[in-house]
Amino acid sequence: MRDAAPQTIYLADYTPFGFDVDEVHLTFDLAPSATHVRARIRFSPKPDATDRTFFLHGEDLTLLSARIDGETVKPKITPEGLTCDVPSIPFTWESHVQIDPAANTALEGLYQSGGMFCTQCEAQGFRKITYYPDRPDVMSTFTVRINGPHPVLLSNGNLVSSGDGWAEWHDPWRKPAYLFALVAGDLIAHRDTFTTMEGRKVDLALYVRPGDEGKCAFGMQALKDSMKWDEEVYGRAYDLEVFNIVAVDDFNMGAMENKGLNIFNASAVLASPETSTDMNFERIEAIIAHEYFHNWTGNRITCRDWFQLCLKEGLTVYRDSQFTSDMRSAPVKRINDVIDLRGRQFPEDQGPLAHPVRPESFQEINNFYTATVYEKGAEVIGMLRTLVGPAAYKRALDMYFDRHDGQACTIEDWLQVFEDATGRDLSQFKRWYSQAGTPHLSVSEDYKNATYTLTFTQHTPPSAASPDPQPLVIPVAVGLLDADGNEVMDTQILELTEAKQSFAFAGHSAKPTASILRNFSAPVVLEFAADHAALLAHDTDPFNRWESGRALALASLLASITKGTAPDADYLQGIATVLRDDSLDPAYRALMLGLPGQSELAAALHRKGDTPDPQATYEAVEAMKEALAQTLKDDLPGLYADNQVTAPYAPDAAQSGMRALGNAALSLLTRLDGGDTAQAQYGSATNMTQQLAALANLIRAGRGDAALADFEAQWKDDRLVMDKWFALQVSEAKPDDAADTAKALTRHRDFNWKNPNRFRATLGALAQHHAGFHAADGSGYALLADWLIKLDPVNPQTTARMCSAFQTWRRYDQIRQSLMAKELDRIASTPNLSRDTTEMITRIRNA
Ligand code: PHE
Ligand code: ZN
Repeated sequence: MRDAAPQTIYLADYTPFGFDVDEVHLTFDLAPSATHVRARIRFSPKPDATDRTFFLHGEDLTLLSARIDGETVKPKITPEGLTCDVPSIPFTWESHVQIDPAANTALEGLYQSGGMFCTQCEAQGFRKITYYPDRPDVMSTFTVRINGPHPVLLSNGNLVSSGDGWAEWHDPWRKPAYLFALVAGDLIAHRDTFTTMEGRKVDLALYVRPGDEGKCAFGMQALKDSMKWDEEVYGRAYDLEVFNIVAVDDFNMGAMENKGLNIFNASAVLASPETSTDMNFERIEAIIAHEYFHNWTGNRITCRDWFQLCLKEGLTVYRDSQFTSDMRSAPVKRINDVIDLRGRQFPEDQGPLAHPVRPESFQEINNFYTATVYEKGAEVIGMLRTLVGPAAYKRALDMYFDRHDGQACTIEDWLQVFEDATGRDLSQFKRWYSQAGTPHLSVSEDYKNATYTLTFTQHTPPSAASPDPQPLVIPVAVGLLDADGNEVMDTQILELTEAKQSFAFAGHSAKPTASILRNFSAPVVLEFAADHAALLAHDTDPFNRWESGRALALASLLASITKGTAPDADYLQGIATVLRDDSLDPAYRALMLGLPGQSELAAALHRKGDTPDPQATYEAVEAMKEALAQTLKDDLPGLYADNQVTAPYAPDAAQSGMRALGNAALSLLTRLDGGDTAQAQYGSATNMTQQLAALANLIRAGRGDAALADFEAQWKDDRLVMDKWFALQVSEAKPDDAADTAKALTRHRDFNWKNPNRFRATLGALAQHHAGFHAADGSGYALLADWLIKLDPVNPQTTARMCSAFQTWRRYDQIRQSLMAKELDRIASTPNLSRDTTEMITRIRNA
């Protein structure tokens, strides 16, 4: 279906809807190709409304009848919705539409997945279910009757009554339509209960397809842990009699926080030791927490309009990261978050897709569920908390919940509670929400008369989104060490507000060593010639200790790439010392063995005015790994052996950390033993973490064929495990083989390209294989473009998201740029390209 001509929507144009929606009654008669939806909605004109246009959104709906107060009306219908003359006093609107869930491959609105019916309404999917003012500031109570032959019939809120072939649900909490959900299917419930701090018993259920019952226990425990944590840390209790989660195989995103009925991508909730890695478990725990936390930050307090998306997402990501820090290791979580931020958000913020945390315009809102809104949005909240302190943060949050419960809010409302709770003026801080781009912070030091002075210069490169960037408020956590590594000044928060600013520290009889931006206190690029070797050895801040190793690795790799130098011996020795320190958490030591990603290296080269050569970048990283293996060759067997878990598998932080370190050692060991240890591990593995790590190493050692065949035979009926099988072959391929490997996999009988997980496992893995995607002959670009063109008419949302693989195209040489431009133009000129993909390609191509 052709989208309407692209239209740009502006934050500045916001106007409230002219009517209150007092209540909504929906009746669904489910049938795959002809579902009937009857709506009865009570509207009241707002006395003070400036605009009384009665416009209801509606897309791909067949309107069978419409009535106002019982009288048939003939609304004017467009592809986007309808308008109708309506009374100036409260009235009842009734509509009857027919929709086609079986034909809904976009996975937005009501669709089918593996024989079940389910919905996805954020951001604008409800308009594909019935005519409605589908905007987040229109809130109402919903009563839903579902008629269908399925044993399980679910919607939001509490179950009112049910019988054979029907169920009725009522959600007493007013909510926007994007939080509506419905599920119908032959599902199995994994049940539990939770008693709130207010003493209310809540029935919990996790619904899965038959066969997946054994993968529910962990998710259920994560849910209960989340409920408890939100009570203890934020004072927020759950507010319905039931909380349901449903796992679906076909889903564009990770999961969705529908009120009382969260719907999850199966990959984000189903887990078992045999089929899920430690990383899967941790991600699942975090996503369950995230969606649950939305009940307060998102659902009870929602967004006025979609420009305010970070109001719920930034805050909820921040809350789920606090949760993970509390459940596991705070430094490890912080390091992983920063790796993720640099891997996904920085490239976005430094390229043609750059946009403020709160954008001011968009064509397709689905394109703004970005790393900037989510992850930088969470960083902004972290900075706010650092600036005001934990006690004031808590006061402000309590005030936020008190003041705004039941409302649709803005970033202004959010900042106002912090101003009111602390007396602070946050007008400059607000620039973090309105200004795009990653700030660069360069620091110089000076030492005289026992005074140590740090001078900071902040500079945000201008972009199309923010051509004239202004100085930001940047909290910089700084500590000082002496020559022996003793802390001579504990962490202090310096508040930068000017473009250039100095801070003096008196009373230092010798020049101290500065540890700057501890715990990554702001999402900036730091340029400071720190004494990284000393900090790697001694920093008391675990983040900066890790960061120093990272900085040394980065410098060494950049020198290898540009000057052909050998890996830095100081770095290798420094890392070896850290790895030998058994007092350090294994998970932390495993992170120490990590290297900057190749895309991060390319970005660093680009920043310095060099043109990255992906093959050279790949080779430099390989050489560095080889050097690490050689440096540690006497340590690796012991490191490997000492980190084998003998206790029964548990996905907890302690065991996961040991496996992470054991497997980090394994990947170096494989370079020395040609894969013998990996082969043995493959043969004895009893959990997916060990099995998959062994398989990856066998592929790298060039002896993966037998294990790949074995793995496929073992797991061919498990969709989630087979996603790993697809992804791993691409991600572990040599650069020259990556595109061919992906292409061969697209011909595999299990390559179900309409399933977003499988599509991402195969083509997404190629897009993330830096040297493979950027292979000199353009084969990676061409293959991805072919498949994006094919997927677009089926699933615009997933297609558009994957266009971001091209966002860095201006970094590379002329030949690669023209190859990428050609593919971008080929996509852009595809007839009937979706609004989603058109917007993405246009923004990228205009770089
Ligand atoms: N709101 C979902 C979240 O928690 C993400 C999402 C957006 C899911 C749009 C589906 C569609 O983050
Ligand atoms: Zn969210």
